[in-house]
Amino acid sequence: MLPAMPPPVRITVGQEPRSYGVEVGEGLGGLLWALLDRHGISSRRVVVSTAPIWRLVEPALQVPAGTDPVLVPDGERFKLLSNVARIHDGLLKAGADRGTTVVAVGGGVLGDTAGFAAATYMRGIPLVHVPTTLVAQVDSAIGGKVGVNHPLAKNLIGAFHPPRVVIVDPSLLATLARREFRAGLYEVIKYAIIASGALFATVAQSLSALLSRDPGVLIPVIAECCHIKARIVTADEFETGQRRLLNLGHTVGHALESVTKYRRFRHGEAVGYGIVCAARMAEARGALTSEQADAIARLVAQLGPVPPVGDLSSSDVLETIRYDKKVVDGRLHFVLPTGIGAAVVVDDVTSAEIERALACLGLRPGP
Ligand SMILES: NC(=O)c1ccc[n+]([C@@H]2O[C@H](COP(=O)([O-])OP(=O)(O)OC[C@H]3O[C@@H](n4cnc5c(N)ncnc54)[C@H](O)[C@@H]3O)[C@@H](O)[C@H]2O)c1
Ligand SMILES: [Zn+2]
Repeated sequence: MLPAMPPPVRITVGQEPRSYGVEVGEGLGGLLWALLDRHGISSRRVVVSTAPIWRLVEPALQVPAGTDPVLVPDGERFKLLSNVARIHDGLLKAGADRGTTVVAVGGGVLGDTAGFAAATYMRGIPLVHVPTTLVAQVDSAIGGKVGVNHPLAKNLIGAFHPPRVVIVDPSLLATLARREFRAGLYEVIKYAIIASGALFATVAQSLSALLSRDPGVLIPVIAECCHIKARIVTADEFETGQRRLLNLGHTVGHALESVTKYRRFRHGEAVGYGIVCAARMAEARGALTSEQADAIARLVAQLGPVPPVGDLSSSDVLETIRYDKKVVDGRLHFVLPTGIGAAVVVDDVTSAEIERALACLGLRPGP
């Protein structure tokens, strides 16, 4: 007999009257339409997805026979206004009006793009996220940030458009490529370091079960990440304070992605390097013990092979960091762990500190 699955976890994000629910549970996709009914989502719904994602996940979703989704090209290089326009076209063709709900089925790219289309169609129509990657389930589907890239800058064009509900079904991850799955685990480690020593210990102790997507480990880990993100964005909806902690590893991570023209790393892999860099900086400042910094570096390394950085120059990375959009009022805000389960935002890091930490990662000094 199969073990009974735990009941779904229900999490509330935000404050009334703009709060919404996140439901996490194995097989929830198979109840999708009924769940949306239960959440009071209007019955006029348009599914937005990409052809490769829809082909894989549609069999696991309860949608009415004959559902005709709006499908847009797949991938980060299509996370552009042109895809938003395609979704608007599809919504118009489907006769969508202000009472129609966009049901976004896909990873972070699709969710951000369809979310922005929903935010702008008729000045905003309701949105539901059905995330299908680990990154989307633990991160991008929660928090209300939607948007697309400008050819010259990532995520430059966007809005805050919180969903009405988020349905997280970890069984949808079964078809996800190993590398994509591992990329999401770096974000899981990020949550653990900023907010939960217990989550860090679970990931470290159950890594092989997690990597094999054992639902007994995977579901509580995803639910815990959703809890952490929900707590943080509820406290700071528009990213003026605590929400910045979610950028742990992202300043250096984004710079590594940028200097390699977004071709070498999955986003999470670059964040993995960024997390270790932040840990080494915190260690050098005495904010983190060497044992803690080593434990972080070890867990990141255990997630598996990542593309090398030995050919990259630390001064190129530093240069890119200076242009990072997190430079607020000319000051660079950096998230540093102060323990395993706690972090702070500082604004006084020096180039020399960053360079020393980049050297620990193996980047070559100088231009
Ligand atoms: N809005 C936010 O707060 C937020 C937070 C984090 C990341 N993001 C954004 O998310 C994006 C990255 O998201 P991502 O990592 O999910 O990448 P992605 O959406 O490109 O998905 C990665 C790949 O997985 C495939 N895929 C999706 N679901 C699948 C499934 N169930 N089975 C098999 N393959 C599947 C996709 O086709 C794609 O090729 C970035 O654009 C980033 O800016 C946004
Ligand atoms: Zn990220």
